Amino acid sequence: TTIYLKDYTPFGYLVDSVHLTFDLAPNATRVTSRIAFRPNPDALDRQFFLHGEQLKLIRATVDGVEITPDVTETGLTAVVPDAAFVWEAEVEIDPGNNTALEGLYISNGMYCTQCEAEGFRKITFYPDRPDVMSIFTVRINGALPVLLSNGNPTGKGDGWAEWNDPWPKPAYLFALVAGDLITHPGQFTTKSGREVELNLWVRPGDEGKCAFGMEALKKSMKWDEDVYGREYDLDVFNIVAVDDFNMGAMENKGLNIFNSSAVLASPETSTDMNFERIEAIIAHEYFHNWTGNRITCRDWFQLCLKEGLTVYRDAQFTSDMRSAPVKRIHDAIDLRARQFAEDNGPLSHPVRPESFQEINNFYTATVYEKGAEVIGMLKRLVGDEAYAQALELYFDRHDGQACTIEDWIKVFEDTTDRDLTQFKRWYSQSGTPRVSVTEDWTDGIYTLTLKQRTDPTPGQSDKLPQVIPVAVGLIGANGDETMPTTILEFTQEIQSFAFEYTVEGWRLQGCEGPERVSGANPPKPTASILRDFSAPVILEHDQSSAERAFLLAHDSDPFNRWQAGRSLAEDTLIKMILTDAAPETDYLDGILAVLRDSDLDPSYRALMLGLPSQSELAAMMHEQGVTPDPVAIWTAVETLRQVTAQHVQDLLPRLHSETSIEAAFSPDAEQAGQRALGGAALALTSRLDGGAKAAEDYQRADNMTLQLSALSCLLRAGKGEQELNAFYDRWQDDRLVMDKWFGLQVAMSAPAETADIVSHLTGHPDFNWKNPNRFRAVLGALATNHAGFHRADGAGYSLLADWLIKLDPVNPQTTARMCSAFQTWKRYDADRQALIRNQLTRIAETPDLSRDTTEMVTRILNA
Ligand code: ARG
Ligand code: ZN
Repeated sequence: TTIYLKDYTPFGYLVDSVHLTFDLAPNATRVTSRIAFRPNPDALDRQFFLHGEQLKLIRATVDGVEITPDVTETGLTAVVPDAAFVWEAEVEIDPGNNTALEGLYISNGMYCTQCEAEGFRKITFYPDRPDVMSIFTVRINGALPVLLSNGNPTGKGDGWAEWNDPWPKPAYLFALVAGDLITHPGQFTTKSGREVELNLWVRPGDEGKCAFGMEALKKSMKWDEDVYGREYDLDVFNIVAVDDFNMGAMENKGLNIFNSSAVLASPETSTDMNFERIEAIIAHEYFHNWTGNRITCRDWFQLCLKEGLTVYRDAQFTSDMRSAPVKRIHDAIDLRARQFAEDNGPLSHPVRPESFQEINNFYTATVYEKGAEVIGMLKRLVGDEAYAQALELYFDRHDGQACTIEDWIKVFEDTTDRDLTQFKRWYSQSGTPRVSVTEDWTDGIYTLTLKQRTDPTPGQSDKLPQVIPVAVGLIGANGDETMPTTILEFTQEIQSFAFEYTVEGWRLQGCEGPERVSGANPPKPTASILRDFSAPVILEHDQSSAERAFLLAHDSDPFNRWQAGRSLAEDTLIKMILTDAAPETDYLDGILAVLRDSDLDPSYRALMLGLPSQSELAAMMHEQGVTPDPVAIWTAVETLRQVTAQHVQDLLPRLHSETSIEAAFSPDAEQAGQRALGGAALALTSRLDGGAKAAEDYQRADNMTLQLSALSCLLRAGKGEQELNAFYDRWQDDRLVMDKWFGLQVAMSAPAETADIVSHLTGHPDFNWKNPNRFRAVLGALATNHAGFHRADGAGYSLLADWLIKLDPVNPQTTARMCSAFQTWKRYDADRQALIRNQLTRIAETPDLSRDTTEMVTRILNA
């Protein structure tokens, strides 16, 4: 069944309080609930329906009188008084056999929960919807040393603990953890003087991987006070690391639960990328305390209200903690790779979807990352000060409420007096807008004409123009900036913006300031467009290689300077693929100049060496009307790497010495940047020395970043077998490191071998396919090895399909997410399309396929 946004109605009852008692037992946990209901004066429908799935009802009473409710697969209905009443129920559940990792389950002997979005209904009967908020009191009975739930602890003894959460919350924020856990403790004093006890709970053996996460938590708490004025509101804040988890982490009130990969870190076992991601996820979950928990969502269509905003906030945090331009570039790379692929294929949906079958399928790059971009655009349009005021108003006005995007937009309209009706299309219109640029240069007036169009997407054939903030700067012939970054408010289908020359340089016509200097004969400027990636759009700007090389050398906007290099790389790769051309010297010389410039941040220089992913190149070719050949793309990338290595050869020794670190290991941005550039240089060196230096580096590596980058160079060079075995021997007891061991072999495999390597690895005794991290390490890596996955005989497709079919009955959520590997299928040739269609059909026809996977496969097939 499909659920529609337009059908929203409030629940017929309010919940004044919830008391839960858990009697833990692996296969027969008893959950007793006592819930105070009263009629909701704002609702018309008085039907008393409580969600409930896979629950064994033991007994139910209303005001103490036993009743027999009408129980179905999805919940129960009962006759209740037309006044306030107390509902009590006792149910039995089986956490030990809960492999879906939703509701209450057991991971390595630890009880834990995941309720968002609709998992609470697998714990007890309840109105499991985010607009029903209540105060929860929880008692846990169980013979385990650590018993945790939301809020503040109110008592504990031998085999029991009680918790009370004073803040009303929806059921999706409920959490419970019980196990043999050790804490890494911490402490934080809020700006108004509340002493908060912090704990990071881990399984014995993981104590050494907690320090970084704890520091990240304290920095997040401080940052949210400093930047958003948001203070923590309980006496304790607990984080728990769990090995089996479907997503990254979960913001349960006062009890965040994390995939251990998203919180545990140490220099020996984690890469710099791991450290940065962990810091960001800890911040993200913590920031949800205000944007998500104190102010929550009315219904799941509003998911971007909390996720878009919280991703935006965690990106701001990372920019402040590390390098803002580097973070922006990372985010743009990620958005283009994941969100653009989604938005331009069969799974395209608006930031606020209007219908769904399974909400878990909508925790997407569009809702999260495009949702965050929409907030970034809003801030750019209204300005920093108005943004801050609007957020103040949002927190004041809506604290304790379950809100909608309309509420969110309204606080901006009320603070700025702007009409945001057209801007709101960003929430309802799916697809990536394309902005094409043409220039005019007449009589000393420089004009940019912008044209926007969005291609049809599933369910939306006609698109309307959107409000696109286009940040533009102009650069003079000598390379100096002659117009600083200016925001063009681009709202029509076609719109021209004229720039005139004044005593103070170029300015947008019609803006206040000195008059145009007539008679002056300025040279035509070069435009730097969509600076800082000011909108999530595809920019179509036909620039010559010379202009791109000029911007790569001179653009004062770090994002666009990087973008100029990226565009040169794309242009040359596409030419190489289509015509077998040699790499262009504009690209090679530009890269060389950037690498030589030791004034540039090493991490930025490392980014400059990056190339578009092979999947993105396939998307670009498809857009140009050419059917992409995965092997040809792979070959072009390999060739460009080889030629680049030769071109910068003389510089490599200097890069190696420049990036060698004497100081003790630190995961901070500075050292991480040096290691990133060192790793990029090592990859190039390995193309020339067959992996000799990588073999040395592997031996002396004392941190995971270097160890892994050396090992990947060796594997790419067709070597490293001995190192791979040594790595296994050293790390076989560390699950997170073993995920890397599995994933790297797939990622580094040559296209012809990927499928065979995956088959081989899935037979390895350590391939525990029920663990989502391990499953993704292998099968996810298959799907992202572009040429390997798209092997012409279809081996990659059938292998992935086999495993998805096998996983679906065990863990529908993770299965459904991974179906998106097939979302780009219409780009490829008829033979590949037929092979993929067969596999999608095979999955779709699997008996008893989950609702999650059915929805995904159907949407992909019906493109
Ligand atoms: N709210 C969590 C976060 O963004 C994600 C949890 C999603 N879980 C799910 N099963 N859909 O941090
Ligand atoms: Zn989130």
